[in-house]
Amino acid sequence: MSEQLIISTSTDKAERYKILIPQIRALTEGETDTIANLSNIAAALRQTMRFFWVGFYIVKNNELVLGPFQGPVACTRIAFGKGVCGTSWKEKKVIIVPDVEKFPGHIACSSDSKSEIVLPAFKNGEVALVLDVDSNKLNDFDNADEFYLRQVMSIIENLP
Ligand code: SME
Repeated sequence: MSEQLIISTSTDKAERYKILIPQIRALTEGETDTIANLSNIAAALRQTMRFFWVGFYIVKNNELVLGPFQGPVACTRIAFGKGVCGTSWKEKKVIIVPDVEKFPGHIACSSDSKSEIVLPAFKNGEVALVLDVDSNKLNDFDNADEFYLRQVMSIIENLP
């Protein structure tokens, strides 16, 4: 595996995701350590998509615990059903929040965070972790982010 990422210079985010996804697959192939894989995925997403904050919250003992991430320091634990991450876990679905101030119960780790997307990954039908991506711009996530980040979650679900 090469540790060198090829980063598309396209201003079209779908194009940037298209170049990135196979590289995420290659980056994690053959590596069995979950923390190593999630760390590289967070770094690759941050490096190529220039997200303000991107990282994982992992289900441990019935709460979400901060996992590998890139960006400013963040809250370490989130309860089931709380915030955008806890809601995504509870409802087992992708949540796009165009304006975090309008999401009831949003947990503000940084006042610079303005919009957010959270996607769950499943193991044996249960949520094992969520991917949280924050932007410092309002309304920064759309169907293209959901479409391609779902592919990232599917890579994660298929990790050993
Ligand atoms: N905003 C998230 C908390 C995590 S941070 O944004 C990194 C939430 O409401 O669940």
